Amino acid sequence: MNTKAVVFDAYGTLFDVNSAAEKCKDKIGDKWEAFANFWRTTQLEYTWLRSLMKRHKDFWQITGDSLDKSMKVFNIDKSMKKELLNLYKVLSPYPEVNEVLNNLKKKNLKLAILSNGTPSLLNELVKSNNLSNLFDDLFSIEEVKVYKPDSKVYEIPVKKYNIKPNEITFLSANTWDVSGGGNYGYNAVWVNRNKSQFDNLDYHPKNEIGNLSQLLDKI
Ligand code: LAC
Repeated sequence: MNTKAVVFDAYGTLFDVNSAAEKCKDKIGDKWEAFANFWRTTQLEYTWLRSLMKRHKDFWQITGDSLDKSMKVFNIDKSMKKELLNLYKVLSPYPEVNEVLNNLKKKNLKLAILSNGTPSLLNELVKSNNLSNLFDDLFSIEEVKVYKPDSKVYEIPVKKYNIKPNEITFLSANTWDVSGGGNYGYNAVWVNRNKSQFDNLDYHPKNEIGNLSQLLDKI
């Protein structure tokens, strides 16, 4: 690999999107995981639909809008909304994240996040998990006001670092985001945490890893 920058997706790749609902599982009950998955799917659908409709709202507003619908569908009391949203701001990272980033930092590479999240959400996420000093940049789609997988998003770090798309190794656990980055020209690596199946969207990643630790052998 001729990697000059390692760029990470945030939600689902570095940070566990289900951790907000999981922390409330005593109150939500057994349905917490189905609810968390529904919330996540609805949130992503809203990003794609708003981009297609050209009616942009930022990721924080979309997270709240999708939560409203999900709480109705799963019959969860309205009083839990604030707690769930506050937990979403401080999602937990996956266990290997800190060590992997510290090891990568020792190499002469740019390290960045490229995410749908707003700049303030991304700042708070890395800050609350003591990861701020490890990243060179936190790139947000708010710069281009359209969501992944629009190519304008994947262009952001290419322009900023003045490098070629294939000099970026992009990590995402979201198959459609790997397809988006890969079709754009990144060396896109699929973080397949749950032994899932890949998409049929014109790109197949040359590299697939089960968690981020396995990246260290490949860079
Ligand atoms: C992100 C979503 C796709 O962080 O997980 O951009």
